[in-house]
Amino acid sequence: MLNWDDPLNAAPVASRPLPESMASAPQRAAASGDEEQKARPPLAPVRAEDKRVVGGMGDINQLAPFRYPWAWQYFLNANKNHWTPLDINMNQDVHDYHHKLTLEEKHVYENVLAYLTTSDILAMRNIGLAVMEKMTAPELQVYQARQVYEEALHTWTYQHCIESIGLDQGEIYNRYRVVPAIHHKIEIANRRMQTALRADIDLRQRDALAEFLMSYLFFAAVFEGSWFYNGFSPIFSLQRRGLMKGTAEQLQYIMRDEVLHAGFGIRVVRQIMLEEDIAPDAAALREMWEEAEAAERAYADYLLPEPILGYSAEDHIQQFRFVANRRAKQLGLAEPFAGAVNALPWLDEQANMRKEKNFFETRVTEYQTGGGLNWE
Ligand SMILES: [Fe+2]
Ligand SMILES: [Fe+2]
Repeated sequence: MLNWDDPLNAAPVASRPLPESMASAPQRAAASGDEEQKARPPLAPVRAEDKRVVGGMGDINQLAPFRYPWAWQYFLNANKNHWTPLDINMNQDVHDYHHKLTLEEKHVYENVLAYLTTSDILAMRNIGLAVMEKMTAPELQVYQARQVYEEALHTWTYQHCIESIGLDQGEIYNRYRVVPAIHHKIEIANRRMQTALRADIDLRQRDALAEFLMSYLFFAAVFEGSWFYNGFSPIFSLQRRGLMKGTAEQLQYIMRDEVLHAGFGIRVVRQIMLEEDIAPDAAALREMWEEAEAAERAYADYLLPEPILGYSAEDHIQQFRFVANRRAKQLGLAEPFAGAVNALPWLDEQANMRKEKNFFETRVTEYQTGGGLNWE
């Protein structure tokens, strides 16, 4: 029999009366003879049109009727991309890393993992501890609860890769602290997400709302939508040459989650802009994109002081600009990097590749459960 207090503790829990605060309202009313509570009129029904993304005063515990049916759809779609890192065979990666990768390629591989693993912890904390509690429609929170789990799953995935290859964990996890180019990106993210983390922020104040909007916009469009999306590419370039295919497949699963995360976040930002009649400041946006690009440039130069076969720092930064334009367009905002070209035309195909092609002869037989995914 399950022990609901502590499932790992087999000892039965002695039955005891519920504390006063845990008794149901009717029990309390009956126990105290609270006639006033019994006579209280029923609450007014929740109306979808009363819901707001932030600052809503409605009942946060009632899922439907939906004001944002797209958010529920994101949740349903997210549940079609199921995997655990244990599903993917890493044996060939162990061999590739130790016998096939050049020193330069090892440098790329290790630092991509070091950057991503720190970023995913940060993403989990930002959504779970900062953003989610500020949403006032439950359909938004339900998707974000799934997102928090996915970020934790991604962290497990990187850890599984690091363990499988036999990398020095203390050294890899500390790189974001000791490598300036990685640290700078994390430092920018921490700074820009600080507003969202403030528990005392009052989003009914216009200044606070504008700050929150910029913070979430950065997270969705830059951190997840551009840095993350672009962050997998160096490993995919190895995969295209038949190297580190297990890791690359793990990242493909992650990337599919991240495409949804960025899409959802951008949708939320657009909804706030519409509902609250607020727009991000053009100069602040320009500064955000410039800072993000400079940090990405330093990161790319550190990762690839010289090109590896099929991938260069220039490819990486070009692709960042191209993806950034795409995110700005999704937000209905001006493209920050006019004329940027798609330097990695194979990347989208890589992200959307269907498992049923069985490219990698791994143990996974199905890429997704349920019906087809709609990624746009
Ligand atoms: Fe993630
Ligand atoms: Fe994410």
